[in-house]
Amino acid sequence: MRIDKYLANMNVGSRKQVHKLIKDGIVSVNGQMVNTPKMQVAPDDEVMVGQEKVSYKQYHYFLMNKPKGVLSATEDLHQKTVLDLLDAQDRYQKLAPVGRLDKDTTGLLLITNDGQFTHNLLAPNKHVDKVYRASIAGVADESTVEEFAKGMQLGDGTKLKPAKLKILSQDKKNDTSEVEVTISEGKYHQIKRMFGASGMKVVELERLTMGDLKLDLNLKRGQYRELTDQEVKVLENSK
Ligand code: URA
Repeated sequence: MRIDKYLANMNVGSRKQVHKLIKDGIVSVNGQMVNTPKMQVAPDDEVMVGQEKVSYKQYHYFLMNKPKGVLSATEDLHQKTVLDLLDAQDRYQKLAPVGRLDKDTTGLLLITNDGQFTHNLLAPNKHVDKVYRASIAGVADESTVEEFAKGMQLGDGTKLKPAKLKILSQDKKNDTSEVEVTISEGKYHQIKRMFGASGMKVVELERLTMGDLKLDLNLKRGQYRELTDQEVKVLENSK
């Protein structure tokens, strides 16, 4: 790979900024000063910019606690996206959210530039479980649990896989419930439509888990961190 691409991919700067760093004579590879942006480097070469070592990492994986009010998209002309919440030094090329949460949904969202990883987690035949916590307008009861468990049919005819509904609390007086729902698909507005089909409404929705990965409760809404290598492995092996 060319040294300018290597440095741009590692977010040292734009191609133009990187060319300037090279021109200024502060980039070296294995102790040799670089004098052309075309120089080829390998991932295990020692690349330095000034006194800073720049290690090559092809893929980046972030776990975000998504806040309300931002889109799970890579860009939007008018609205803020989850990528806008990343610090400038973390805005690596080709990052994208792993699937979508609605604008008003909060909680666990993965962001990566590893397309294969994303595909493995989202492919319909992988059935990776996702657990959501929801506040519901309406009283969910055993009949709702059964409806979800046998695989619902939505208003437009979409047939869903069985889902698990756990009722955490019911408030009959105020006609509300707190629940946890486990689904293995990711259809558009799936949980909202499931409750809608049962005559209820989702008021709050938060994703708690994806496969074996749990939302990191040390992250406030809008905060994120890199996944550990162990967490990446666990997700790669998710059923
Ligand atoms: N189901 C929904 O309805 N919305 C989400 O954001 C995720 C699952």
